[in-house]
Amino acid sequence: MNSPMRHAPAPDLLSRFAAIVGDKYAVTDPNDLAPHLIEGRGLYHGRSAMMLKPGSTAEVAAILKLANETRTAIVPQGGNTGLVGGQIPFDGELILSLTRLDKIREIDVRSNTMTCEAGVVLQKAQDAAAANDRLFPLSLGSEGSCTIGGNLSSNAGGTGALAYGIARELMVGVEVVLADGRIMNLLRKLKKDNTGYDLRHLFVGAEGTLGVITAAVVKLFPRPRSVETAFLGVPSPEAAVKLLNLAQSQIAGTVTGFELIIREIVEFALKHGHNVRDPLASKHPWYVLMEVSSQQAEGLRDNLEEFLGSAIEQDLVTDATLAANLDQAKAFWHMRHTLTEVQKPEGGSIKHDVSVPVAEVPAFLAEASDAVTKLIPGSRPVPFGHLGDGNIHYNVSQPVGADKADFLARWGDVNAVVDKIVLKHNGSISAEHGIGRLKRDTLPKVKDPVALALMRDFKRVLDPNGILNPGKVL
Ligand code: FAD
Ligand code: MLT
Ligand code: ZN
Repeated sequence: MNSPMRHAPAPDLLSRFAAIVGDKYAVTDPNDLAPHLIEGRGLYHGRSAMMLKPGSTAEVAAILKLANETRTAIVPQGGNTGLVGGQIPFDGELILSLTRLDKIREIDVRSNTMTCEAGVVLQKAQDAAAANDRLFPLSLGSEGSCTIGGNLSSNAGGTGALAYGIARELMVGVEVVLADGRIMNLLRKLKKDNTGYDLRHLFVGAEGTLGVITAAVVKLFPRPRSVETAFLGVPSPEAAVKLLNLAQSQIAGTVTGFELIIREIVEFALKHGHNVRDPLASKHPWYVLMEVSSQQAEGLRDNLEEFLGSAIEQDLVTDATLAANLDQAKAFWHMRHTLTEVQKPEGGSIKHDVSVPVAEVPAFLAEASDAVTKLIPGSRPVPFGHLGDGNIHYNVSQPVGADKADFLARWGDVNAVVDKIVLKHNGSISAEHGIGRLKRDTLPKVKDPVALALMRDFKRVLDPNGILNPGKVL
């Protein structure tokens, strides 16, 4: 594969790119560029001469055509909320921002589909569905800024995946601009379209390395007629897994959220979070934030109360509170979604976004915490996450008073220890955030070699000049 330019394109070439979108949408001012060069964890600081903000698929196509002809590297960017550095230009690449492609082209309530341009912010997509008495169930803590294109490109998971599926399962159609500027239009609203290779899925989770998603058709679901949210104290992860299994088989509704949270990070939230209150009167070693939904307008709350009563009798739950209203339910979710932020004031945090089979989560947690605190005495594992998917954010905060840089310098050592345990439990080193730059060098150590070779083949075929997000994933 020919390698693209690895430095800022010459001024005359920059002006050819600018001419495609118009000067107003060819951002070169360092202050305007700055927020697009760093990512939320501050792990990476990139550099770029220009951010292009195309206003149409045709402009995206013209940009890629020129980039391919001139071997100019491009980094697609949506909401810049990715957590593996995939959206950051490390080497002077041009940023291709999809944020101006922000139209919801159609909502078809009969077919239960919504056609969104890539730059539609997830929250806006959710609200548009709700305004049509439908549910678009993808839900992440970053939903106020992340975009549909980024969600598909990172194959996002989030808190509703256990009932509705991950981003890949919510996509039915996609419009993609290929590296050479060709536009592949598979924007169909068809659940079944068995006409050859299912190319749509190649671009979901490809993190901008195979093509630029400019629009997608996503699934809508009937809006639940009742939703109940409970914050539970549980004695252990084992009890939480048993509770999940029981809830999924006994509750007359669907378990649409099941988040496991360790007490230590609840302490962080109480200390550093805004408008965060302890939902239960006493402290518990572990918590579950549980949401159940039903198409029945009545009866779910009683059913849930009865279920929790029996769970308490079986010592699976030590305390419970049901949200009395939507505001309280939102307050529970607000606390859950601040968990990303409230780790920061505690200093360095070494992150893991891993998954193991649900039944193996308790063993993974016990082994990982034992290994990590032996490796770095005083380090503070604060696992939380989507237990229903076996997906744990096994984040480790530095020992109190330790030097942040020294602690973060151990990132590789800690990852190696934790990943070894994940693999022992047949898990994945990246459950939902993707590979990006952060896990690029780990991937070859864990991926099936034939699969990795095939990934490289696809990359060579689809992006022979290597202009699409070079250095990410592969
Ligand atoms: P960006 O960050 O802009 O880009 C992400 C990747 O996609 C990059 O590789 C980029 O090059 C590529 N890309 C972006 N747009 C396109 C496009 N149109 N075509 C092709 N490639 C493109 N993630 C989860 O999965 N689950 C969670 O629960 C979750 N919670 C989060 C909570 C917080 C507070 C934060 C900050 C992040 C969280 N994330 C979570 C991570 C992040 O929000 C998701 O990965 C999200 O899908 C990224 O969307 P984005 O639009 O910000 O993409
Ligand atoms: C979340 O679920 O909150 C994120 O995926 C994890 C994180 O931000 O570390
Ligand atoms: Zn998550």
